[in-house]
Amino acid sequence: MNAVLFGPPGSGKGTQARAVCERFAMAHVSTGDLLREAVADQTDLGRQAQAIMAAGKLVPDDLVGGIVRERIARETIANERRSACGGNERGILFDGYPRNLEQARFLDACLQDFGTRIDAAAVLEIAEEELVKRICGRRLCSNDPCGGSYNIYSMPPREEGKCDRCGSDLIRRKDDNEETLRERLAVYSGQTAPILGYYEEKDLLIRVAANGSVSDVRGSLLSGIAAKCGV
Ligand code: AP5
Repeated sequence: MNAVLFGPPGSGKGTQARAVCERFAMAHVSTGDLLREAVADQTDLGRQAQAIMAAGKLVPDDLVGGIVRERIARETIANERRSACGGNERGILFDGYPRNLEQARFLDACLQDFGTRIDAAAVLEIAEEELVKRICGRRLCSNDPCGGSYNIYSMPPREEGKCDRCGSDLIRRKDDNEETLRERLAVYSGQTAPILGYYEEKDLLIRVAANGSVSDVRGSLLSGIAAKCGV
């Protein structure tokens, strides 16, 4: 089973993705995370993406499509190995991909090449005013493998500026400021929101109210996906 998780910046995609992957045994493919890794490693892709991401714009479709196709290919091989050993296959949760209609069509074509498809597309819906607090309050652990994520308003760390899990310093993402957020929101409403109609037409869309607590949103999201996919 494969699914898409999308929504405006700060709507909670990253926060909820882990629970979805655990519940439905899926691999997590976040294009934002993959691009940030490429920037940190200063690969060719990272060098091309860096300024675009810092400005809150979309990285060109062909660059992002390349990493998505590569991840699908890698998961397909891993599934073949699991099947050969009598294990269960694992689907993919695409977090933050697709982000426009071209990417949505590319994803469908790509999955078709590998003999699979999207089974559900969940959108996290929330008012813009709430997103400013979420984005400007977000703090991340500077020790990348730790993955600690906090919010100074809704999920503060025990000690200010320090990760609860590993004690490393907390940092802000370069694009987490009000000015870049405004651009990211404009990109979302202009380019990403039209994919709602794309998935609605295919009867794959699940609308999830994302303004509640993390556990309330998780409950609605998990039950929405389960109902849509009949699992
Ligand atoms: P990406 O990393 O995907 O960023 P985004 O879409 O802007 O989303 P965020 O990661 O900011 O937020 P989120 O929805 O995951 O929220 P989170 O759970 O962290 O993309 C970054 C950039 O990469 C893009 O701008 C673009 O340049 C590029 N890019 C990525 N994909 C691309 C693609 N497909 N094509 C082209 N370019 C691409 O939560 C946010 C905060 O809120 C946290 O502090 C969290 O603790 C808090 N929070 C979460 N849920 C709740 C809740 N229910 N109540 C209270 N607080 C909450």
